Amino acid sequence: MPDKILEFLKKKKEYVSGEEISHHLKISRQALWKHIQEFRDAGYSIVAMPHLGYRFISSPDRLLPDELTHSLGTKLIGRKIYYFDHLSSTMDMAMHLGNKNAAEGTLVIAESQTKGRGRLGRSWISPKYKGIYLSLILKPEILPANASIITLMTAVSICDGIKQISGIEPQIKWPNDILIHNKKLGGILTELKAELDATGFVIVGIGLNVNNDSDELVEEAISLKVANSQENINRIELLQEILRKIEENYLILQKNQSPAILEKWRNYNVTLGRRIKIICHKEQLEGEAVDIDRDGGLLVRRDSGIVEKFMAGDVVHLR
Ligand code: BTN
Repeated sequence: MPDKILEFLKKKKEYVSGEEISHHLKISRQALWKHIQEFRDAGYSIVAMPHLGYRFISSPDRLLPDELTHSLGTKLIGRKIYYFDHLSSTMDMAMHLGNKNAAEGTLVIAESQTKGRGRLGRSWISPKYKGIYLSLILKPEILPANASIITLMTAVSICDGIKQISGIEPQIKWPNDILIHNKKLGGILTELKAELDATGFVIVGIGLNVNNDSDELVEEAISLKVANSQENINRIELLQEILRKIEENYLILQKNQSPAILEKWRNYNVTLGRRIKIICHKEQLEGEAVDIDRDGGLLVRRDSGIVEKFMAGDVVHLR
């Protein structure tokens, strides 16, 4: 019932009398008033005026499942959403749910994380209500060795979503750093639960700095708000768009059209064509980043002319 009241108020976009709502939804005026109070306590702004009734003003700045699902329009991605005020890491919760056979498309969202983690054992700072921190369970029919394409597809989808919502075009640094003005806006962490020759499920973790102010960010990082002339970004609209893009691009992958995803990735990337240093398993080498191959591996041409392929590593752009 509470969802129906909200939906009704949102649709009206103007004052609607308590009598009309009670009549339409078949609840008492007292019960209606109680629900309105609960919505306000949860951060919804709803005005109540004598003789006029109630008017919906705005939703709270929370990634609430009901708010996300409303007008999302995806069939697979986010069909089940677990929402937490805080977690140690959404990756652990998603792994737990995946092991319990959670459906493909299940999403775990936290408003903050105490032990958010990034690639290569780094931590991911996750201040409350400022960013987007989520893990998504996917069950692609691919070999574990080819799972990198899922990370690339996600990076492309994040860029598509950001571009659509803010007009800002982010860039991708291989393999999965989302950059704006050469500073890190977000990252993707992919973890696998794999059998020997088949992928059981993939957990795609996404961390994005959205409404952080500049004094809340380290020197090498940026938020969308900072990039957007200090204007706050609606996190719900942004996340909805990213989820829609993931669904769209995941479908392209399922139709065996990974070249299309790789092409999109190339269009956003800032690594190819540059001289780079790549650090992998404590070894490092320099060369030119020439391309990515069909699995998303980075092809680096060393000064000797030999081309080597890397599936993981840390890249430094030299020039
Ligand atoms: C990276 O750039 O190294 C990847 C960062 C990934 C961070 C996200 S935040 C949500 C999810 N939960 C985590 O603990 N990590 C990922």
